[in-house]
Amino acid sequence: MVLNFRFAIVSDLHIALPHTIWDHPNRFHLVEVSIPAFESVLEHLTQLDLDFLLLPGDLTQHGEPENHAWLQAKLAQLPFPVYVVPGNHDVPVLMANEQSIAFADFPHYYRKCGYEDPQQPYYNCELLPGVRLIGLNSNSFNDQGEQVGRLDHKQLRWLEAELAVTGDELVLVMVHHNVVEHLPNQSDHPMANRYMLENAPQLLELLQKYEVKLVFTGHLHVQDVACSQGVYDITTGSLVSYPHPYRVLEFQRDDLGKERLQIVSHRVESVHNFPNLQHSSRQWMGDRSFPFLIKLLTSPPLSLSLAQAKKLAPSLRDFWATIADGDAVLDYPDFPLEVRRYIQAYGAIDSATLIDNNSTLLLEKSSEP
Ligand SMILES: [Fe+2]
Ligand SMILES: [Fe+2]
Repeated sequence: MVLNFRFAIVSDLHIALPHTIWDHPNRFHLVEVSIPAFESVLEHLTQLDLDFLLLPGDLTQHGEPENHAWLQAKLAQLPFPVYVVPGNHDVPVLMANEQSIAFADFPHYYRKCGYEDPQQPYYNCELLPGVRLIGLNSNSFNDQGEQVGRLDHKQLRWLEAELAVTGDELVLVMVHHNVVEHLPNQSDHPMANRYMLENAPQLLELLQKYEVKLVFTGHLHVQDVACSQGVYDITTGSLVSYPHPYRVLEFQRDDLGKERLQIVSHRVESVHNFPNLQHSSRQWMGDRSFPFLIKLLTSPPLSLSLAQAKKLAPSLRDFWATIADGDAVLDYPDFPLEVRRYIQAYGAIDSATLIDNNSTLLLEKSSEP
């Protein structure tokens, strides 16, 4: 079946109405821009002939009912369908508290955004004839009531049953936590593993078995495209942190069955009070990056002394912003060789792999057994 459709992705909106914003000086997210940035993105997207829009979680800053209600009302006005999944910020607690909705309330806000059955926090819906979207819930709670990023067994069993009957339909998957590593050793690094789905290997195995090739994630606030054995994890940076990106994608399957996905990324350049958002946001991130850099440099595998870390950290002021940008090239020739190599590994592997922002992925069909 020949296919040709166009869609957009906006991730980690962290919507915060002004009176819901807390004031604390080390906040990494520029939530002040959440609403004007989203409105400027919508102004652009409504001019395009989109088939649908995907929002892969962290729709709100802290799961506040009024922020969910604001977003839900906004999405209802759009000329194209929108699909969402919950991020850790959307359902921070199992039971409602004075700040946040209950976990079970989430689908009720987004019944028109995938959750036709609000009793179930994940769904499988038809986007277009021959094209399906599976929206997964990666937010679980352990016995202590703490949030963990994993898919429960019931959901994995449900997913396998759904995939087993999709036939030759194209299946897209959306989930908040990362499924393929976007940073070196992401699954094991104590500062990065919380961005991975804990049971990513089980999900990947299922996706490979049923030849699902495209997964859309968020959570990391980084522009990155990574691939593991034929499964692409396309993670989109956050609308409230540098570089305030969003993507427009076009999928094509020709009459020979050849499939390609073209990705074009855009950025919010300016909003009210932030006329040069790209510049001021990069500065904001650099201003707050020192504690993070000290922790990274003093943690294994580098395990530098505090004195060494303090010496190198100022040169790495833009390290995280450069990674968040996607297609990073990181080289610090004056650094000790071991540190230089370690930092380089956070960048794109070589110039042929600059696929994080703008690229065309050729989706190979795995050979018949
Ligand atoms: Fe986020
Ligand atoms: Fe998140």
